[in-house]
This record gives sequence, C-alpha cells and structure tokens, in this order.
Amino acid sequence: MRILMVCLGNICRSPIAEGIMQHKINEHGLDWEVDSASTNVYHTGEPPHRYSQEICKLNGIDISDQRARRFQKSDLDQYDKIYVMANDVYEDVQHILNYRDHEGKVTLFLDELEDAKGQSVPDPYYGGKDGFVHVYELIDRTCNTIIEKYNQ
Ligand code: 4NP
Repeated sequence: MRILMVCLGNICRSPIAEGIMQHKINEHGLDWEVDSASTNVYHTGEPPHRYSQEICKLNGIDISDQRARRFQKSDLDQYDKIYVMANDVYEDVQHILNYRDHEGKVTLFLDELEDAKGQSVPDPYYGGKDGFVHVYELIDRTCNTIIEKYNQ
C-alpha cells in the first residue's frame, strides 16, 4: 500500500503523519510506503516546522530529513490512498486534479476515526506548542486505526 498524506503547507500536519506512519510501518515490518505533500507552494523545500520536529522527536521519531513538496496530478497514479488532513485541503486537491475522478482514493484522514468522521485535523500553524501536541495525538490514533484496518 502506498499512502500520501496531504495538508496545506507540508510543514506541520502531514510531516507528522508521514513520520508516525513510517515509524509504525517499520515497527510492524509492513510492505507499505508513505510520503507527504502540500497543496500550496509557500514552504516548498523547507524542513518540517520546529514544533512538528520537536513533538516527533519526543516520541522517538526523527522527521528532520523531510522537505516540503507540492501535491501534483501524477500523485493520483502513484498512490493507493491520498489522505487529506482537512476539508479545505480536499477542495485544493480536487482543484489541482482538475476535478478528475479520483475513484475514492482521496479521503479525509479523520474519516478513519469512528468518532471524528467529517472533521479536519486542526491547523496548528498559527498557534503554540500545545496545538502540535494535540495534533500529534490525533494523528497517532488515526494511524493506529489505519494499520489495524488495512494490515490483514
Ligand atoms: P500545515 O500548516 O498545512 O499543517 O503544514 C500550515 C503551514 C503553513 C501555512 C498554512 C498551514 N501557510 O499558509 O503558510
């Protein structure tokens, strides 16, 4: 399974999602791949936000080598699942794909959590450290659910 995590900037939420999922893929010895991307270009080429790096490091995950890149049309063919972190990101991805039929590949990340369907992972960019801690926990819980669901 090839998974792409997508958010607006690819510096706060999706790098955490990529880092956590890669860590769990390694732990479980799964034959899965994960990457992340942004829908905007403001931070292309940058490493993850320092608070994203910090919260991951606290949990034993090093995401410092990641670099932001923009979601592109060809990603639709390269990945089996494209998880968008938020409803506005879903709209942006549809726009980048020129509203091409994605055959259900593009889904809201939190739709995988029974108690958070339809919700967005909050954007921690304009807040403090606590926002990143909350986002980390939410993403970690969702990644566990995804692995339970698809690791058959
Ligand atoms: P992210 O957070 O989408 O979780 O990486 C953001 C980072 C940057 C911006 C917005 C959200 N920005 O507008 O620059």
